[in-house]
Amino acid sequence: MGRDRYWRAISIDSITPNFFPEVALYLKSGGNYVLYKDPERMFTVEDRHRMERSFTEFLYVRSGDMEVLNDFMEKNMAEMLARDDLSSAAKGKILYQTSVNCVIDVFESPEASANFNRCRLMVQNLLQHISTDRHALESFQSIVDHNFYIFVHAVQVAALSLLVHERLFDLAADEMLDVGVGSLMHDYGMIFITNDILEKNDALSDIEYYKVKQHTQKGYEYLKQSGNYSEIVLNIVRYHHERFDGEGYPTGIKGDNIPRSAQVSALCDCYSAMIMKRAYRKAVTPGAAIAAMREKAIKGAFHLELFEEFANIVNETYAIIAALSYDERHVLRH
Ligand SMILES: [Fe+2]
Repeated sequence: MGRDRYWRAISIDSITPNFFPEVALYLKSGGNYVLYKDPERMFTVEDRHRMERSFTEFLYVRSGDMEVLNDFMEKNMAEMLARDDLSSAAKGKILYQTSVNCVIDVFESPEASANFNRCRLMVQNLLQHISTDRHALESFQSIVDHNFYIFVHAVQVAALSLLVHERLFDLAADEMLDVGVGSLMHDYGMIFITNDILEKNDALSDIEYYKVKQHTQKGYEYLKQSGNYSEIVLNIVRYHHERFDGEGYPTGIKGDNIPRSAQVSALCDCYSAMIMKRAYRKAVTPGAAIAAMREKAIKGAFHLELFEEFANIVNETYAIIAALSYDERHVLRH
């Protein structure tokens, strides 16, 4: 998957002072990992300030410690979300990081029902957060350690897709969970693509692009035979690169033959990919991403009315953020 096997990056934003399990934290310094905090010592407010002063964005945890960390975070998530000494942005960051960790595990063993259940629980937390907090998307627009792009992108697409479904459609609770799980898993098939292609910074050759395009069908087939995943989930995995005009892949189905959940995922996928900073290009602003997507929609990539509804939801969130005073934005970032 193109990431370091032994270390997991933990965004500083997601480490709450005095709320962290007994796990060692490391700093990355010139390619080496240096112990920053012993398991026994608590991560304090002073630690947080030190990180901010040195513009440190990530600390690292040994992969072997992730189970303890995930267990702690997931067990304490409800309590953490209910705390009133944490800003909603801080809660969002923690939820975001914990979801990313969860997706990493589900990608590693999608057939394990324990992972699948964790994933559903995480979607429930995500859903609750985005439906009660108007700043939710802002917290999900975080910095990304590039090795973790696929997982961070997955959580972003899930949060956005849940928000869109919640605003536009009246889905049963189970269907909402499936939309969330499907969006988290949409690029699962990327595990079948080799690192040399995934990490390539230049344009892909025709053969490489052909291989990348197979992630939809391969992911679908693998998850289908694992037996855990519903039709909604499988549809999102298989059809999220179809285009409304039939020019997409893997099957080339068009119009409303493309399941609606997959059409929404396609919009969220495209938007999330654009607003994230990558090693080879800068992030696009939300406004510019919507403008570029509108052009695509007019050319036939998306259902035009669905796209406009989507754009309204994104613009609304963007307008809320843009309208905040400096102080409020400052608080949001911390
Ligand atoms: Fe994809």
